Amino acid sequence: MSMNNDIKEVLVTKDEIKEICKKLGKQITEDYKDKKLLLVGVLRGSVVFIADLMKEIDLFLEVDFLAISTYHGTKSTGELKWRKHLDTEVKDFDVLLVEDIVDSGFSLSQLTKVLVDRGAKSVKTCTLLDKPYGRTVDFKADYVGKTVPDAFVVGYGLDYNEKYRNLPYVGILDPKVYS
Ligand code: IMP
Ligand code: MG
Repeated sequence: MSMNNDIKEVLVTKDEIKEICKKLGKQITEDYKDKKLLLVGVLRGSVVFIADLMKEIDLFLEVDFLAISTYHGTKSTGELKWRKHLDTEVKDFDVLLVEDIVDSGFSLSQLTKVLVDRGAKSVKTCTLLDKPYGRTVDFKADYVGKTVPDAFVVGYGLDYNEKYRNLPYVGILDPKVYS
């Protein structure tokens, strides 16, 4: 009955995630000290990560969220659907998009374009996880927590059909769950 039984292998432990947030937070604090930082979390996968990451950034930042969906089950559809737009006017902000994972690269490359078009002063991207083998578009995140193999992973915000987001670590989902 435990969620843990559906995990084939733990990929990023609680402790490792803590270290990643500390390291990225320190780097972002340094890089944005003379800027006007707006952290933009991509709902819903990034919420757990952004909550921990922002506590490691020692700046007068603002935070907002947007929601899109490009994903059904374990396959990307390559189509960006807006579910929630930002409430903040991005004009004059240095925006840092925060994601749970980059796979095809489609979501973050599209979102970067949209925010640049809306007049953001700068747009950069930060992702907890990177799956470089999944790329279908040319995209590289500016801040990456950890590179992971090409497997379907869940936990720490990442879901499979909206479940497993509350696992405190990241793990490979046992294929028995979706086959
Ligand atoms: P991209 O647009 O293909 O880069 O997809 C990024 C989005 O796909 C992420 O924000 C996730 O929501 C979802 N995604 C990609 N790989 C995984 C995975 O292994 N587990 C859970 N969600 C994933
Ligand atoms: Mg996502």
